[in-house]
Amino acid sequence: MARLSGKVALVTGAASGIGAATARRLAQEGAAVLLTDLDIGGEEVAAGIVAQGGTALFRLHDVTSHPDWAAAVEHAVEDFGRLDILVNNAGIAGGNHELMDHSYDAWRQILAVNLDGVFLGLRHAGPRIAQAGGGSIINISSILGKVGLAGAAAYCASKGGVALLTKAAALEWAPLGIRVNSVHPGFIETPMVAGALAAREDGNEMKGALIAAHPLGRFGYPKEISDAILFLASDESSFMTGAELVVDGGYTAQ
Ligand SMILES: NC(=O)c1ccc[n+]([C@@H]2O[C@H](COP(=O)([O-])OP(=O)(O)OC[C@H]3O[C@@H](n4cnc5c(N)ncnc54)[C@H](O)[C@@H]3O)[C@@H](O)[C@H]2O)c1
Repeated sequence: MARLSGKVALVTGAASGIGAATARRLAQEGAAVLLTDLDIGGEEVAAGIVAQGGTALFRLHDVTSHPDWAAAVEHAVEDFGRLDILVNNAGIAGGNHELMDHSYDAWRQILAVNLDGVFLGLRHAGPRIAQAGGGSIINISSILGKVGLAGAAAYCASKGGVALLTKAAALEWAPLGIRVNSVHPGFIETPMVAGALAAREDGNEMKGALIAAHPLGRFGYPKEISDAILFLASDESSFMTGAELVVDGGYTAQ
């Protein structure tokens, strides 16, 4: 029997990278998946899942928008009848900003997507998951929600916020049977990382230095993160809530 058979999942930021891999992985294990993103490319990811025999639909959705969240959650329930799993994955890298001249607009934008977006996801999906009798919420934080990186103050603040927001939600919702956990990936081969490195003059050297900071000697793959998310989404993690699942090739073990 598939590990998520009969379950309905909503995955944000599902047009690309970790979100696309997660939507595919959850669908392979029997979940009906609503993929959402700002990027219409998510339609192709959903079509690919359906072509493989899975159940998936795509909706446009900006995670910083209250009305978009309300519509996305209602669509999941209208299209598939219930909501059991939420993966708050959408996020932005935010570039390289030194604090001495960090613009407030850039700070606000990174916090709006990476942290406010997760709050809105909890706020809108929580009541529906409670109605289904409980479920699992997985918030995608980062190694940079556990340790700092120069030039990434806003990103680190947003991802650290996600880790603690996750624990507070886990405590509030444990009596409702809703488990809430965070996943902390190391550097993963996705368009986000490729774009951030390409934007730097020293991108090649930076990539070498970052790879060297992972004791396993490479960046991770989206599939490796989606496997961890699948574990947290499934009943195999039934005694886990408020936990930080680190999947980082050893980056934060040092
Ligand atoms: N790639 C990494 O190394 C890495 C490491 C740690 C954490 N993460 C986190 O994993 C998540 C996924 O990252 P990725 O590497 O797959 O990135 P990605 O850029 O490949 O995918 C992110 C997706 O989020 C979408 N998105 C951005 N802003 C949005 C918004 N306002 N509303 C809806 N969708 C929006 C983008 O359109 C994109 O499809 C992010 O939260 C990221 O911070 C990534």
